[in-house]
Amino acid sequence: MLSKKMETALNKQINAELYSAYLYLSMASYVESIGLDGFGNWFKVQAQEESSHAMKFYSYVNERGGRVKLAAIDAPPTSWKSALATFEETYKHEQKVTGLINKLVDLARKESDHATDNMLRWFVAEQVEEEATADSMRQKVKLVGEKGNGIYMLDRELASRVFTPPASSKE
Ligand code: FEO
Repeated sequence: MLSKKMETALNKQINAELYSAYLYLSMASYVESIGLDGFGNWFKVQAQEESSHAMKFYSYVNERGGRVKLAAIDAPPTSWKSALATFEETYKHEQKVTGLINKLVDLARKESDHATDNMLRWFVAEQVEEEATADSMRQKVKLVGEKGNGIYMLDRELASRVFTPPASSKE
């Protein structure tokens, strides 16, 4: 059984993951509006990943006899200065999410909630990947610049990203 405090913290994280999905969907819409449909695909897949993160927490809360309570999701920004700016923000945002996951780990350990601590290990590893991917994307956009052949080729590459659902929370 989850403590009330842990249940509340996990519900907050569900909200944060859904906000991330919303943020990346908004970025998809922005990059598509400037003609970068491949970038749009990349962000739409990213939004799907975030929804799956939320669902991983959702399943875990239920599994532990807690109650999922959904709250309002903040509105994300709707436009950025450039494609590079979306990836700069993605990188910053993922660093923030890593901080939230670390706080959850701190709480689980403080409460000697080993099950939650164990479940969160998946997210700790996932955040290493999330930050690395966002960083690599922003480096690539910087490298090719925002005009010309390079960005066109990168856009084509990003069009091929597909969503792969993560393993279940029990694994
Ligand atoms: Fe749910 Fe991108 O971390």
